[in-house]
Amino acid sequence: MKIFKKIMMPAAVVVVSAVFAPEIFAQRITAEEVESKSKDEFIDGLLGRMTVDEKIGQLNLPSYGNVKPDAKKSDIAGRITRGEVGGIFNIFGVDDIRALQEVAVEESRLGIPIIIGADICQGYKTTFPVPLALSCSWKPENIEEVARISAREVSTDGVCWTYSPMVDISRDARWGRVKEGAGEDPYLGSLMAAAWVRGYQSDDLSADTTIMACVKHFALYGASESGRDYNPVDMSRVTAMNYYMQPYKAAVDAGVGSVMTSFNEFESVPATGNSWLLRDILREEWGFEGFVVSDYTAIKEMVSHGVGNQDEVSLQAFKAGVDMDMIADFYDGSLKRLLDEGKISEKELDAACRRMLVAKYDLGLFHNPYRYCNPERGEKELRSAANLAASRRIAAESYVLLKNDGDLLPLDGVKKVAVVGPLADSRANMCGSWAKDAVTGEYNGLVENLRKALGAGVEVVYARGCNLVDDEKYEYNFTSREINKRGDGKELLAEALKVVNGADVIIAAMGEAEAMSGEGASRAILEMPDCQKTLMDALDATGIPVAMVLFTGRPLALERQAAQADAVLNVWMGGSEAGAAIADVLTGKVNPSAKLTMSFPRVTGQCPIYYNHKNTGRPMAPEAWYTRYVSNYIDVPNEPLYPFGYGLSYTEYEYGQVNLSSDEMTADGTIEASVVVTNAGQRDGEEIVQLYLRDMVRSVTPPVMELKDYKRIALKAGESRTVTFNIDVNDLKFFNSVLDYVAEPGEFTVMIGGNSLDVESAKFVLK
Ligand code: BGC
Repeated sequence: MKIFKKIMMPAAVVVVSAVFAPEIFAQRITAEEVESKSKDEFIDGLLGRMTVDEKIGQLNLPSYGNVKPDAKKSDIAGRITRGEVGGIFNIFGVDDIRALQEVAVEESRLGIPIIIGADICQGYKTTFPVPLALSCSWKPENIEEVARISAREVSTDGVCWTYSPMVDISRDARWGRVKEGAGEDPYLGSLMAAAWVRGYQSDDLSADTTIMACVKHFALYGASESGRDYNPVDMSRVTAMNYYMQPYKAAVDAGVGSVMTSFNEFESVPATGNSWLLRDILREEWGFEGFVVSDYTAIKEMVSHGVGNQDEVSLQAFKAGVDMDMIADFYDGSLKRLLDEGKISEKELDAACRRMLVAKYDLGLFHNPYRYCNPERGEKELRSAANLAASRRIAAESYVLLKNDGDLLPLDGVKKVAVVGPLADSRANMCGSWAKDAVTGEYNGLVENLRKALGAGVEVVYARGCNLVDDEKYEYNFTSREINKRGDGKELLAEALKVVNGADVIIAAMGEAEAMSGEGASRAILEMPDCQKTLMDALDATGIPVAMVLFTGRPLALERQAAQADAVLNVWMGGSEAGAAIADVLTGKVNPSAKLTMSFPRVTGQCPIYYNHKNTGRPMAPEAWYTRYVSNYIDVPNEPLYPFGYGLSYTEYEYGQVNLSSDEMTADGTIEASVVVTNAGQRDGEEIVQLYLRDMVRSVTPPVMELKDYKRIALKAGESRTVTFNIDVNDLKFFNSVLDYVAEPGEFTVMIGGNSLDVESAKFVLK
């Protein structure tokens, strides 16, 4: 392995600041030690010469403050020198990162490198669609590629640890963070979780191009009450294990190196101090061996949760199994006292510290602390043509066609296209929340890309049409990125109506600005803002066909606007290449094939709304829209506007009957379920054929259906294919009331279809 030159120097030759006299470095790590010892020997040796303060320092992930103009003279550099810091995060710029690493390696007593983290959750300089969008491709291979490219890019700029994947199952679109995850389904969420981890970490964490993943937020954060961020979570353990925990476990099974706690409480205990979650399940049940980091100030927040003072909450978090304290500086302030008081043991401290050292060792930082600072490679990798092309392709594969009456899309034979709406020409709104260091000025805009794609013979005109929201104060709440300067609503509308005159089609670019979803951006009203409704009413009244291009980080409640539009293409927040990718789909270069991974409600009041709900004792009759004294609403149907698994294509698919190889299955046997799927339209396309099961009777109430498998198939126009699924006993298992994972004999319904509401079914019995 390549060795970092400076640590090969004799200690006396190393250039140091005036903080320590040279003899202080007598115990520092040497290259020879790293090379000649096994991992365990090396870490034992290092731990053996660390002071208690240095061990506690490794557990500290403090706020780095301002590192400009000279990182080496910043406050954080001083703390690093004193051995008070295990890592830093969300600092961008390879020079500053390298400077701080130099401080750690050359100026601290032992020379332990720091770990550099960042929220690289949907790409780095090349950005990709938000994770919710990515999940709609139902292609784990896309997610793996996104993670791989992200790792390759950011690992040139000093970062070796990412706070991704976020795998919180979310059923409530009011929660702003739904866009960071993979939606409502545990099975799909698990596939995506594992793909993220594989992509970031690959099979050699110490390679210069791989980074450590951190699965978050453990646990159950997606179920915050009323969709309000940071709110409590309350559910049974049976529900937690059957629906919410699977994706975290999938990440652990895929070898994720670290786990981040969550802000919420569970069972009236903050997750960050919850030993059932962190110790019993994560470590003991799942065998997780990496390290656990708190979420941002989450240990400190336990004081506000009301479970103790600084020492008490630090003790609780530490005992529960949190190794690293993000930002709060509570471990820094309390652990030594807790040790002196005998409340924690040095053995426990060593165990936590060892996990941090092992992570650094596995990342190859002891062998070469600068392996992730590689601007030369960066020049080739960052926003390379190949990465941008991947982003464009993957973005187009995440767009969900929700409606397409009269085959309005793809655009064909048009002479004048009017692009109208508050999001039509706003690039920064395509980047999502975690593209902090993205160059949004270089993003691909929709209007010019449409012009390019349609060619000189087609006139493409543009007008904004309205502000994002009516209320200036409300807009102020989400102005973290560039949004259009506010205009006069009446004037904007009048201008739009003038511009659309004579157009063959209107592309209405509406929805959410980037900062209207994400952390701290819960919404109590998921309907379109009034001014966008007014714009849509006016566009509809023109009689010109309208294709809505919906920018959003979450499902919205747009029943009326969807009815008004002839076509709706949901493009989420599609990353740096979104403009080109949207043009690819609108012009038919790409035939959409994505399917929703989160249900779209008709109205906000239906939330939380999800396909794998319970039957209840008083279920709706399928054909009824309202019946008194059954589980429904008097004012809206139960069904979502667009269900889980739903998404159209420019062609059409027909499903035949479900055939089972047998109507009985034994616990060690399998059944084949097959269906003939036909591309009955005029274009080639790809369809996602979905397999759901329903356990008809079991000891804890079953959901009405659960996704168990799916197949993405390419079908030429007119082609038919038999799609076959194998079902075995593992597909029938669930957590019972004592949390045993079992399959119980009895009847099961197999459902196959192109979305969760539109299925063909058959039954079998598990003997
Ligand atoms: C978020 C995490 C994020 C962390 C570090 C927190 O506020 O909840 O998802 O990784 O900040 O930026």
